[in-house]
Amino acid sequence: MATRSGNRGSNSTSSTNRKSGGSSSGVSAFKWGESGPIIGAALAGAAIGIAANFGRKFVTQAMSAAAGDWDEVLATEHDMTLAIFDKLLATDQTQTFKRTMLLKQLTHALDKHAHEEEMVIYPALRAAGQKVEADELNGEHGYVKTFLFELDRMERDDPFFLEKVREFRGLVAQHAKMEEEEVYPALKSSLDEEQNANLTAMMNRDGFWQA
Ligand SMILES: [Fe+2]
Ligand SMILES: [Fe+2]
Repeated sequence: MATRSGNRGSNSTSSTNRKSGGSSSGVSAFKWGESGPIIGAALAGAAIGIAANFGRKFVTQAMSAAAGDWDEVLATEHDMTLAIFDKLLATDQTQTFKRTMLLKQLTHALDKHAHEEEMVIYPALRAAGQKVEADELNGEHGYVKTFLFELDRMERDDPFFLEKVREFRGLVAQHAKMEEEEVYPALKSSLDEEQNANLTAMMNRDGFWQA
């Protein structure tokens, strides 16, 4: 592996060469002619990476967006999130790697979901006059982050790990129930078809970038 000093050394050599060659060398410091294929390959690699990332986003987002209207998409995401909690609760103390992977998955699912709600749905709730409910739900998202923070700091084989996960699941399940059974039906029925369709489109757009 090249060291920092090694790299520096080779740079200074090429800089000396350029000086000695003067302007007559006619070779750009970036050597486009030689590096072209390398840069091309790097760009192609980056393009594949970007395409793969977009592909992943499409698949992830398509899975939830296929659910339908904004409230159905969010309810599907609630179910998917609770299923990750259940997988986590089915682990034992020896499965520390699995716990770490599931915790990552849970964090990502909750991040995407909270972003959609905080950027689109809760503002729409406030605009529709449900400010108290929006603020209460938004406050609970803060405690979701707190649970993630605490779990992240816990040893994966901590004897209290599952107890913390169970408590966390309880908060998320109760929060989701309030959204699904009270707040979202009230918002949906206060909007006309076009407004609901706009909300779905805005939320799916946000979800795509978060996926
Ligand atoms: Fe929420
Ligand atoms: Fe939610």
